[in-house]
Amino acid sequence: MKTNLPLDGDRLWADVMALAEITDPARPYTRRSFTPLFREGRAWLARRFADAGLTTRIDTAGNLIGRLEGTNPALGVIAVGSHSDTVPSGGRFDGVAGIATGLEIVRALRQSGTRLSHTLEIIDFLAEEPSEYGLSCVGSRGMTGSLDGKMLDFTEPAGESLRDALRRVGGDPDRLAEARRGDIQAFLELHIEQGIVLESRSLDVGIVTSIAGIRRIEVVFQGEADHAGTTPIDLRHDALVAAANTVATVRRLAEQLAVEGADYFVATVGILTVEPSASNIVPGRCRLIIDARTTNAALTKQFVETIDRESAAHAEAARVSRTSFETLSDGPPVACDTDLRAALRQGARDLGLSEMDLPSGAGHDAAFMSRICRSAMVFVPCRKGKSHAPEEWADREALATGAAVIYQAVRALDQSLPQAAR
Ligand code: GLV
Ligand code: MN
Ligand code: MN
Repeated sequence: MKTNLPLDGDRLWADVMALAEITDPARPYTRRSFTPLFREGRAWLARRFADAGLTTRIDTAGNLIGRLEGTNPALGVIAVGSHSDTVPSGGRFDGVAGIATGLEIVRALRQSGTRLSHTLEIIDFLAEEPSEYGLSCVGSRGMTGSLDGKMLDFTEPAGESLRDALRRVGGDPDRLAEARRGDIQAFLELHIEQGIVLESRSLDVGIVTSIAGIRRIEVVFQGEADHAGTTPIDLRHDALVAAANTVATVRRLAEQLAVEGADYFVATVGILTVEPSASNIVPGRCRLIIDARTTNAALTKQFVETIDRESAAHAEAARVSRTSFETLSDGPPVACDTDLRAALRQGARDLGLSEMDLPSGAGHDAAFMSRICRSAMVFVPCRKGKSHAPEEWADREALATGAAVIYQAVRALDQSLPQAAR
């Protein structure tokens, strides 16, 4: 453990491990947004916020916010945070590390008797991971005025709308405008890298240059369910044939775009549902979600146009209808703020740490926050780059080190940020 850090890595670690205990025992580590477990995790976090001396509230977009008043509240807010929800069978660090960092910064400030001029807020954004309602970053969209009525009408498989779910977790969809912030001067997020660059180079931290844009598209093919034994091949309307060919096209095109240029491009079909899903029935309906990410929006445009054309052709060839080709969400790539990046780099250097600049292929709440304030991120190494899986692991020292970089930057920004709200 590095001994010269300005905060307590053991305390931070204890928070991460304690929250990990609040999981579906049958599927560690699962704490899906909007579920009772998620609310239990939040209740635990709210108590930790209060124990650290923060006043806590849930805003109308469903974000849990802890607040430490500055000596000059007119200067506005410096915010630190991330998310406490997980993917199904996810890890212990994705998101949680960023919230525990904020909490530990508050404790370290108080312990050293340091009072910031700016107010400091720790934010647990609602539903950063794609929720059962087909939307990710629900809370940071809400805080930045990017959550619209159409999105609130999205439903989960049992039929509940996101609007109603938001009420259940303490938000208020009818007063969403109140969640929109104009007083935040800077947002900083610590996150595990979720890749292998830092580990393979034995570096302490990464300063994120940009966050990939994410487009999610729903495609539905409607065919006809028929007897699998008696329906001749040439008379079938098999929805899965069109869907499978579309998956293959997504892969081929993504490979092509990734090797063609210098820009980052990946695309995935992570959801594919087949109805009625029986071994002796020709698939009647298929729904798939395409997740395409890039640091260059022009590539997404090219990708979507091609997939639109080719999936329609696959439907025709399989003699089924393509009943939906709809963009569910579309976040553009985002560059992190250069002044904040400089503050983070300086913080790392002051602590004698090794660092590098690197882009993020994963989505983060910081991408939405950049719509309303300067935003930047610090990555810490995680074992073998593994994430969104139970094996996800970051060392205690790595977390403490990354948190210390955020701490240094918060203190420096408290002195250097422009005095007027942007
Ligand atoms: C968030 O974890 C993402 O999907 O990148
Ligand atoms: Mn994640
Ligand atoms: Mn995350």
